[in-house]
Amino acid sequence: MVIWLEGDLGAGKTTLVRGLLRAAGDSGPVKSPTYTLLEVHVVSGLHFYHFDFYRFNQAEEYLDAGLDEYFSGSGICLVEWPDKAAPYLPAADMRIELRAGPNAQGEGRIARIEAASARGRTCLAGVTSSSSLRPV
Ligand SMILES: Nc1ncnc2c1ncn2[C@@H]1O[C@H](COP(=O)(O)OP(=O)(O)OP(=O)(O)O)[C@@H](O)[C@H]1O
Ligand SMILES: [Mg+2]
Repeated sequence: MVIWLEGDLGAGKTTLVRGLLRAAGDSGPVKSPTYTLLEVHVVSGLHFYHFDFYRFNQAEEYLDAGLDEYFSGSGICLVEWPDKAAPYLPAADMRIELRAGPNAQGEGRIARIEAASARGRTCLAGVTSSSSLRPV
């Protein structure tokens, strides 16, 4: 499963990953991969690969980093700043775009979630049936 996390600096991408990992049962620290490029979390046998490509100056750095094997395995890839690795980054199953909510204090976020493959549609259907999210 490949999930692209889109949105400006500070939009809440890392915070969303932290929430996902907490919900999956990981109580350990969830650091931003801004400097390390990749943070790995293993929860109940599931591998979560959390990438942040913000610091790439050019997309070819994705190729140099040799990361393709993570995307072809059975883990869950969560990618911040996917556009920095385009056009080399494997396609997304889901895309989540975050932006600040309407609250003047800047609290809360609006997420636009798009399924981009059959696998992504199955996952999104599961999310919408078990929460108050609604299709648009
Ligand atoms: N849903 C939310 N409600 C309130 N504050 C939030 C929410 N999501 C994130 N924040 C706050 O916004 C700030 C930036 O969040 P975060 O680091 O997750 O953004 P980011 O999109 O990962 O940024 P970057 O592009 O720099 O990696 C943090 O102080 C975080 O606590
Ligand atoms: Mg981040």
